[in-house]
Amino acid sequence: MKYRTDSAEKTRSIAAALAATLDGRSPHPLVIGLDGDLGSGKTTFIQGFARAIGIKRRLLSPTFLLMRSYPIPKPLARYGRLYHLDAYRFKRAEETESVALKDVLRDPRNIVIIEWAGNIKSVLPRDAIRMKFEHGRHEHERYIEVKMK
Ligand SMILES: Nc1ncnc2c1ncn2[C@@H]1O[C@H](COP(=O)(O)OP(=O)(O)O)[C@@H](O)[C@H]1O
Ligand SMILES: [Mg+2]
Repeated sequence: MKYRTDSAEKTRSIAAALAATLDGRSPHPLVIGLDGDLGSGKTTFIQGFARAIGIKRRLLSPTFLLMRSYPIPKPLARYGRLYHLDAYRFKRAEETESVALKDVLRDPRNIVIIEWAGNIKSVLPRDAIRMKFEHGRHEHERYIEVKMK
């Protein structure tokens, strides 16, 4: 499935639509891996996702902290916490040990959204949703491709 968006707001609403499909039936944490160039809209997408599930705090880019987490105010299905990880500076999957990602990926109550997920492919669960972000030709044009297993 590939979406075209022509504004940051449209990108946030695509994220909200995806969030609305969550049913929490899988026994695993929900993991969404995002890839795409700088400025292609990954963080904007996560902001839309967070807002859609009721997180009111402004979602900052975690580039320097690497991972941030937010309680989900009205737990959605069984999900209670959103983790936002930016793997831009990870060169190898082992480096994720510094943020205890493996523990986060073991708890089925977590939603884990990872920017630059391709950098840490080997720690992603097999049922992770993968999304590819691309710039289009126009200033605000972006393409978002969703690959679900
Ligand atoms: N269609 C669009 N979707 C998402 N962001 C857009 C779009 N058009 C313009 N933008 C702008 O592009 C930038 C995307 O930045 P960001 O979401 O931080 O990207 P990334 O996390 O992929 O580096 C923001 O400044 C946003 O306002
Ligand atoms: Mg970003």
